[in-house]
Amino acid sequence: MLRVRELESFYGGSQALFGMELGIDAGEVVTLMGRNGMGKTTTVHTIMGLMPARRGTVEFEGKRVDGLPSFRIARLGLGLVPEGRQIFPNLSVRENLIAAGANRTNRPSPWTIERVYEFFPRLAERQRNMGNQLSGGEQQMLAIGRALMTNPKLLILDEATEGLAPLIRQEIWDCLGRLKREGQAILVIDKNISHLLPLADRHHIVEKGRVVWTGSSTALAGDKDLQHRYLGV
Ligand SMILES: Nc1ncnc2c1ncn2[C@@H]1O[C@H](COP(=O)(O)OP(=O)(O)OP(=O)(O)O)[C@@H](O)[C@H]1O
Ligand SMILES: [Mg+2]
Repeated sequence: MLRVRELESFYGGSQALFGMELGIDAGEVVTLMGRNGMGKTTTVHTIMGLMPARRGTVEFEGKRVDGLPSFRIARLGLGLVPEGRQIFPNLSVRENLIAAGANRTNRPSPWTIERVYEFFPRLAERQRNMGNQLSGGEQQMLAIGRALMTNPKLLILDEATEGLAPLIRQEIWDCLGRLKREGQAILVIDKNISHLLPLADRHHIVEKGRVVWTGSSTALAGDKDLQHRYLGV
């Protein structure tokens, strides 16, 4: 579904990605893990066309997408839940969801507002509240709901549990498990290895803008030295 090869990206003169490689197949849940500042967000921003790739390629469903404007990449079926959520503060919950709604990928049973409300009952309760009146957890649910409203073939989550209370975090993990069981392909960036191990099929460990290890949950769970060296756990 998604194949990233030899990706290099820069902030001005400063290189952030040094040959990033990753791949996701349909229905897979795959992670990008690594310590702060290693290039995870830069990778998703480059995939989404929010910053240019200086070298390398991004293929989605067999077609090159690097070089396309970000709205066109999103329309092909990539849905990003960005770091820091970035919901519209001056729109209501309902308006935030409506603004995102589209079924360009012609999914047979598409995401609708009603389905998002079933998925996150709390959003239904808060539907008339403005984005800036929501708690952190509610904002995160809204950010996920908004991405689902685009009916993405691939959902990308950048630190979706960051800064949330444990109970809300658990709710987000449960929701990702349900999406996986429905066959949703997900690229998840997070630091919480104990939740990522049971959820994901494969992992990529990122160090200084490149992948230094890739493998299964079983392989990662069994390698404490690897976890310590690259994830600091
Ligand atoms: N806007 C920017 N301008 C200049 N350098 C940046 C910018 N954003 C990120 N960088 C640098 O690029 C590198 C990769 O950053 P990136 O945000 O991709 O890391 P990350 O793995 O997502 O980290 P975190 O876990 O903290 O979110 C870091 O060295 C960072 O300092
Ligand atoms: Mg980041």
